[in-house]
Amino acid sequence: MIYVNGTEAPISPAPAHTTVLDFLRERGLTGTKEGCAEGECGACSVLVARPGVDKPTDWVAVNACLVPVAALDGQEIVTSEGLATPGEPGTPVTLHPVQREMAARGGSQCGYCTPGFVCSMAAEYYRPDRCPHPTSETDTDTDTDTDTDSDTAAGADSEHGPNGFDLHALSGNLCRCTGYRPIRDAAFAVGTPTGDDPLAQRREQAPPAPVATSYVQDDSAFLRRSSLAETLRLLRERTDAVVVAGSTDWGVEVNIRSRRAGCVVAVDRLPELRELRFESDAIEIGAALTLTEIERRLDGRVPLLAELFPQFASRLIRNGATLGGNLGTGSPIGDSPPALLALDASVVLADADGEREVPLSDYFTGYRQSVRRPGELIRAVRVPLPLAPVVAFHKIAKRRFDDISSVAVAFALDVEDGIVRTARIGLGGVAATPIRALATEAALEGRPWTAETVEAVAPVLRDEGTPMDDHRASAAYRSAMLGQSLLKLYTRTTEAVSS
Ligand code: FES
Ligand code: FES
Repeated sequence: MIYVNGTEAPISPAPAHTTVLDFLRERGLTGTKEGCAEGECGACSVLVARPGVDKPTDWVAVNACLVPVAALDGQEIVTSEGLATPGEPGTPVTLHPVQREMAARGGSQCGYCTPGFVCSMAAEYYRPDRCPHPTSETDTDTDTDTDTDSDTAAGADSEHGPNGFDLHALSGNLCRCTGYRPIRDAAFAVGTPTGDDPLAQRREQAPPAPVATSYVQDDSAFLRRSSLAETLRLLRERTDAVVVAGSTDWGVEVNIRSRRAGCVVAVDRLPELRELRFESDAIEIGAALTLTEIERRLDGRVPLLAELFPQFASRLIRNGATLGGNLGTGSPIGDSPPALLALDASVVLADADGEREVPLSDYFTGYRQSVRRPGELIRAVRVPLPLAPVVAFHKIAKRRFDDISSVAVAFALDVEDGIVRTARIGLGGVAATPIRALATEAALEGRPWTAETVEAVAPVLRDEGTPMDDHRASAAYRSAMLGQSLLKLYTRTTEAVSS
């Protein structure tokens, strides 16, 4: 059972691989659109009630095309149809404030992308820590022509409105005909929810608890257990199981490559995988916390991760994606491994017999392969403390946001009295696995942090790994970018000192 716009909807008899998108459209809720079916356009965005960071519930926008509907068993979702309030018979519906602004500012032409934009925009509208700047005026009067292109208003910048709206909330939504200016105008014009707004009120109560699910149709099962111990026992029995959290990777396999699994096991709501613990010598991050949750809960306390997150796909993807998933797939171009390698992180692997901790530098064994055994699950990622003070994450990709990297480089240097005491450098996209730049680290350690050192060591970094030519970049370009990234880091640190 799933609750859609306040109404119960049975999941059965949908096949186990059915996505939330197909489920909704099958029920006639065709506002939710399919553009790409692989998490890149946001036409399918819907709101899900999730455990909140600042309130009991957050309204979180996710890509309905990627999430199996069985993963939302017992959960509440709101679609673009559910945002508006129906009127009495014969009277028009009352649009939701974000819908009203989109209409008033000309944010929609063909309308195909609009429901998705509206849902992503609504999630940001309800974000509890979205703070309008106290000295700025937010125009919420849809009858006026007031210019809302208010980047120059106090507190606003090119990515945030005077109403505190973070444009990155829309980074996963594409529009092909309106152009983004009117959509931005609408985003920057929305006010704050009123006290009688039902979705704002809903944030004050806990979201639905996860429910154990055994959804079986034909030869396929979608299974969710209530505890880690039960899940590990299940994984021991079903070594063929595909493990999913946000399903941001598996959903693409299902939709684009038509892959099907006899058994999918969900781990995203396991409490043991959703803890964030600050210990004296490490920060332990639960493998099933979403990247958005980690980002908001860490709140900048791990600066290298704070640099990584905005570059890690769109907000819609980060609302579902997890570190466990990013490491579990073993991709050589995953965004988190270079940063976690630079942080000297380790992974905590659990199976029915117990746990073991493996340094991330020993975790990857080959292309999409790791030391993780059948039946083993990543429970957490541990980041040792103290953190190195000089950090940077450089993702080289064709687009600044929401793209796969050609090369990624993460630095974590401890520079004391002008000398590089320790250097940890993680690389992605230059070998069959994410790697540490060991030769570069050794070349830097013990040397002064000067332009001469950087110029002498950059060629060493350029020679790390075995980059390939492919459709994203040439090997020569990848190598060149490695060297440049060290120069860029040095320039940034010297600019920080001189400013
Ligand atoms: Fe494009 Fe879902 S249909 S992100
Ligand atoms: Fe046509 Fe956005 S309004 S794609």
